Amino acid sequence: MATVRKYRGVSLGEHGTVEEGVLLGHQCRGEKEGKVSTLLIGDFHTIRSHSVLYTGSRIGEYFSTGHHALIREFVQIGNHVSIGSGTEIEQNTIIGNAVRIHSHCFVGEGTEIEDNVKIAPGVMISSDRHPLLPEKKKVRKGPRICMGAYIAMGAIILPGVTIGEGSFVAAGCVVVRSVPAGSIALGIAPKKFSRVASYLKMLEERLKGVPDFKEI
Ligand SMILES: CC(C)(COP(=O)(O)OP(=O)(O)OC[C@H]1O[C@@H](n2cnc3c(N)ncnc32)[C@H](O)[C@@H]1OP(=O)(O)O)[C@@H](O)C(=O)NCCC(=O)NCCS
Repeated sequence: MATVRKYRGVSLGEHGTVEEGVLLGHQCRGEKEGKVSTLLIGDFHTIRSHSVLYTGSRIGEYFSTGHHALIREFVQIGNHVSIGSGTEIEQNTIIGNAVRIHSHCFVGEGTEIEDNVKIAPGVMISSDRHPLLPEKKKVRKGPRICMGAYIAMGAIILPGVTIGEGSFVAAGCVVVRSVPAGSIALGIAPKKFSRVASYLKMLEERLKGVPDFKEI
């Protein structure tokens, strides 16, 4: 293993790679002195250089990070999950299986991400609804992103919303209210949603007779 800093209470699976400058089991501020939580990481992991994983998280098999990924404390992550370079996952987030979160994303505290969700680069997911309130923690609520949803580049997801199963959030969209299952959210604060199924049908039509995919 290269120059990896491993704090107490880290259980690292087998057949994995941990690159240079990685910190495993970083203690969190609120931890009482002497109390050690465990960071569990499953087999076949690939943790790339300068990633930091805090204490208390449970991470499944075939986990990978890009460079400089940050996973805060008490996060639950399933199997076959990949977290891109420069992405931060805040505490108490729950991530299912076969989830891909690309580079430079922020996933706010307590977000729930179900199986097979894909998140493109630069997506911001927030959980502080009213950051100016002195008691802002009381109204903090991470969004829920349901199974198979796709969030495109640079979208902003506001606290507490649900992105329905199989839905598609377009690039740059600002999602302020929940998106029904199987629908497309487009633009700033969309209220009306078209259906993913009709969109795919329309794309199929567009593709007909097009010799070069780049032309669609
Ligand atoms: C939703 C999306 C697929 C639409 O693409 P499209 O079907 O090719 O859209 P078109 O270019 O034909 O545009 C259709 C209309 O929607 C508008 N539009 C397209 N994308 C939009 C977006 N993201 N937000 C708001 N309006 C959008 C266009 O301006 C156009 O409006 P008009 O008819 O008034 O001129 C595309 O915006 C998108 O988000 N792609 C994903 C990109 C991504 O993040 N990839 C993964 C990372 S590598």
